[in-house]
Amino acid sequence: MQSRQVLVLVLVSLTISDVRTKDVQECEELSHKNYVCYEIESFEQLQHFVQEDWQSVKIVNGHKAIESDDQILDKMSKLRQLDLSEAGGVSLGERGLRDLIALQQLNLSHNELDELHAKHFADNASLVSLDVSHNDLQFIGRTLMKQLSNLVYANFSNNAIASVEPDAFKGQLYLQHLDLSTNEQENITIGSNANLRYLSISNNNVRDFPWCRLRGLPKLEELHLHSNWLETLDMAIFYSLPRLRVLNVSNNNIYTIQRNLFVGPGPDVSPQLQVLDYSANNVKVLEDELFNRLQHLESLDLHYNQISKISATAFRGLTKLKSLHLQDNSIRQLPDGVFGNLISLQLLDVSKNNIKQISANVFGDRVLRQLSQLDFSHNNIEELHPLAFSSLPYLQQLRLGRNKLISLDIRMFAPLRRLQLLSLSENRLTDIERDVLDTLDKLSELDINNNQLTFLPATFELPQLRRIRIEGNPWQCLCLDELTAWLHGRGVSYASANSAYYSGRKALCVVTPLGQCIRDLEAVRAHRIVESYEEI
Ligand SMILES: *[C@@H]1O[C@H](CO)[C@@H](O)[C@H](O)[C@H]1NC(C)=O
Ligand SMILES: *[C@@H]1O[C@H](CO)[C@@H](O)[C@H](O)[C@H]1NC(C)=O
Ligand SMILES: *[C@@H]1O[C@H](CO)[C@@H](O)[C@H](O)[C@H]1NC(C)=O
Ligand SMILES: *[C@@H]1O[C@H](CO)[C@@H](O)[C@H](O)[C@H]1NC(C)=O
Ligand SMILES: *[C@@H]1O[C@H](CO)[C@@H](O)[C@H](O)[C@H]1NC(C)=O
Repeated sequence: MQSRQVLVLVLVSLTISDVRTKDVQECEELSHKNYVCYEIESFEQLQHFVQEDWQSVKIVNGHKAIESDDQILDKMSKLRQLDLSEAGGVSLGERGLRDLIALQQLNLSHNELDELHAKHFADNASLVSLDVSHNDLQFIGRTLMKQLSNLVYANFSNNAIASVEPDAFKGQLYLQHLDLSTNEQENITIGSNANLRYLSISNNNVRDFPWCRLRGLPKLEELHLHSNWLETLDMAIFYSLPRLRVLNVSNNNIYTIQRNLFVGPGPDVSPQLQVLDYSANNVKVLEDELFNRLQHLESLDLHYNQISKISATAFRGLTKLKSLHLQDNSIRQLPDGVFGNLISLQLLDVSKNNIKQISANVFGDRVLRQLSQLDFSHNNIEELHPLAFSSLPYLQQLRLGRNKLISLDIRMFAPLRRLQLLSLSENRLTDIERDVLDTLDKLSELDINNNQLTFLPATFELPQLRRIRIEGNPWQCLCLDELTAWLHGRGVSYASANSAYYSGRKALCVVTPLGQCIRDLEAVRAHRIVESYEEI
């Protein structure tokens, strides 16, 4: 008994010491000239390890932080990259990293730093990339930034920065990426910078500001202002930002989109904007010719607003547009021609709205050769004009699930020769005719689950079919047997293991007193098959 307990104790202490081996201070070579050092408590200690030819060091500390003891760190003067993001905290003392005169990339992320001073860096520092994200900085001053005049990339995200000293970045001739997201700024006070391309002030407390505040950023291409408190946007953005290509104002409280927002850069010069993300705001109306000037726009995201009214000419002029997101709004009606002439459109999502009817001319009469994905699911569509999709012969995916369709017309699908995916789940279909199925000769996925189907035609082609969903219909059991035998024979998958229908928790079909599968709607009605299924 006694000796056995001793043995157990020994084993336990062995495993603990195993886990803790990294408690030992040591450095390992990761790749040629690149090292990782563990459990380093001070820059002075680090200096004992670093050799002349080392290029980069990453510090990984499990329990301690790294401190400066204000020694001269001349042995590290050739180091190019220092990653302290896993050092578990840094205090920079008086000298900081002043002796690391060759340092080009510094990662100070996740270190609880509340201040950063010019004295911590070499004069005329060669630093090109600085990541100080995830710290507690409150302020960015001019003297600090002046010391870091060679920066190309600066990431100050996830701090508590409430102010930036005006023109702090003015002297940074090479700065291209500036990330100030997830801070506490109310006002935009960046001032000017000759070369900045990317600026993010997303997830701050900005309420409103005129674009002219950004006038000093003539090369800016990407501006991220999402997740602030903006309610309106000032007019004429491109006068101030003539090169803007990406604008993200998602997740604010903006209640209109005004045509005069898109004015500039010159009366005859069209804006370069390619991506506009206006999602998750409170826009209610899309007016006439709203985006007319955005001839280079490729992606327009308006999902999750409160759009209920769209002018027939709202999207006019968007001849380069490739994706249009309108899902999650309150659209009731689509005016004739509203998507006409969007000749580059590849993807259109109008799901989760309140559309009852799609008329013949919503897509205009010109063939939209690029449109391959169309989503109208989750609306209230009862009336789908048989010619509604006649200008969309290149469609590959069509989603019409969760609507109120009762029947399908051969004319709806006859033009859709390239359709690969068709979802008609959760409608009220009672019958699908053989002609309709036979036109879909490229179809590989078909969803007809949760309708009111009791049978399918006795024979049909669907030569490419690989997957089908059929559950949730009041199939006559004999018809279902025929169908599943056919599906097995063709190697088409239909059962999904975790569905209540296939695990026996919900009924898959109705047993009828008839000796065969009845393929006649009148007879099906007379036998009240749908009603008996609903009673199960
Ligand atoms: C800094 O380190 C963090 C955490 O290791 C990492 O996610 C981030 O990409 C690094 N920053 C740069 C600029 O490489
Ligand atoms: C800073 O460095 C640049 C070149 O890297 C040099 O032209 C300039 O004179 C230096 N300035 C100072 C104050 O040392
Ligand atoms: C800045 O750092 C944050 C946090 O690590 C990261 O998510 C973000 O992508 C970085 N920004 C840029 C422009 O690289
Ligand atoms: C932001 O700017 C406005 C107008 O310039 C000024 O009235 C306001 O006090 C500023 N807010 C802060 C927090 O600096
Ligand atoms: C815009 O910001 C949202 C966050 O609100 C993000 O989900 C989306 O991907 C961004 N869009 C672009 C085009 O960067």
